[in-house]
Amino acid sequence: MTRGVGFGILFTLLWPILINGRFHLKNVVCESLDTSYSDFKRCEMKVIGRGVSAFYMIWKFYSVPIDNFELNLSLHKRSNGYRPFLFNQSLDYCYYMRNPQAYPLINMLHKSFLATSNINHSCPYDHNLIIKDFIYKDNDLKDLPIPNGDYMIQIKVATDKKYRACIKVHMKRMD
Ligand SMILES: *[C@@H]1O[C@H](CO)[C@@H](O)[C@H](O)[C@H]1NC(C)=O
Ligand SMILES: *[C@@H]1O[C@H](CO)[C@@H](O)[C@H](O)[C@H]1NC(C)=O
Ligand SMILES: *[C@@H]1O[C@H](CO)[C@@H](O)[C@H](O)[C@H]1NC(C)=O
Repeated sequence: MTRGVGFGILFTLLWPILINGRFHLKNVVCESLDTSYSDFKRCEMKVIGRGVSAFYMIWKFYSVPIDNFELNLSLHKRSNGYRPFLFNQSLDYCYYMRNPQAYPLINMLHKSFLATSNINHSCPYDHNLIIKDFIYKDNDLKDLPIPNGDYMIQIKVATDKKYRACIKVHMKRMD
């Protein structure tokens, strides 16, 4: 399993996209790939003000505890459908939760929504995962080396080496 390699680069890129770039969050789609294993009871993004969105998610698990999560993250840019763009990496999430200091950039990003969730503890997880009104704001970052356009961040989540869910975050970069 890939651990850490390239993550400095990945999150140097992700960080400005999510936090500083003038990236408008358009919508989030949560798809269960095995509804007998887990399912989304809620996955909702609401615009609550100019350039401000709130995200609410309830992810229900039917078989707990879970002691391993692998996240496969990739960025896609839209042009005749979405095409892979710049990064495609995997993360051993339980390892990361035991060693958050090993990934300072992920940790910084992650912290911003930990406070609005019930996921701030190390593995195993024996409950539903809830993110309650995570607030996202459009921001400006002139020197972000990513062109204007429509983007999609795909987060595929695997447990026991099987993909269980796919979360797609659609964003738009505008100047
Ligand atoms: C990411 O890379 C893996 C192989 O390392 C490949 O199987 C997968 O299809 C790639 N994902 C995307 C979205 O390009
Ligand atoms: C997450 O948990 C750690 C350890 O319990 C704590 O130090 C930290 O403040 C928590 N972070 C948030 C954002 O709640
Ligand atoms: C996630 O990506 C890594 C590296 O590309 C790959 O080795 C792993 O098999 C992927 N996970 C799953 C569940 O396919």
